[in-house]
Amino acid sequence: RLVYVLNGPNLNLLGKRQPEIYGHVTLADVEAECRTLARELELEIKFHQSNREYEIIDWIHAAREEAGGIVINPAAFTHTSVAILDALNTFEGAIIEVHISNVHKREAFRHHSYVSLRADGVIAGCGTQGYALGLRRVAALIEPVAV
Ligand code: DQA
Repeated sequence: RLVYVLNGPNLNLLGKRQPEIYGHVTLADVEAECRTLARELELEIKFHQSNREYEIIDWIHAAREEAGGIVINPAAFTHTSVAILDALNTFEGAIIEVHISNVHKREAFRHHSYVSLRADGVIAGCGTQGYALGLRRVAALIEPVAV
């Protein structure tokens, strides 16, 4: 029950970057919350952020080998990256797409997501809580733990 939590460009600045849109919680806070929740859900997580498209693609390829699910906030690559969509299409497990802000309330160019063509679910506008919601959904979608 390994889950990758992947974050795209500029999310390293979470908490400092446009806090009126993205809030004051940092990515380190998000990671800590995900790790606490993962223990409760009996998941193991690998948590990554990159500003480089190829690194996100390489992590998706690594997830193919070992993970049952991916929670991904592709950030701006959501709206531009056929390459990330193609990589996700090679992954057989559960995928939940997360956006901190409600992208549908924002500029028109944020309304289209390549990643949504593959994602099993999409969470937008729930703030950084969206990561926890995404992890809970992935946990429900992947193999239940033996009791
Ligand atoms: C985002 C929304 C994207 O449109 C934007 O480019 C981001 C963050 C979000 O979490 O709300 O960088 O994915």
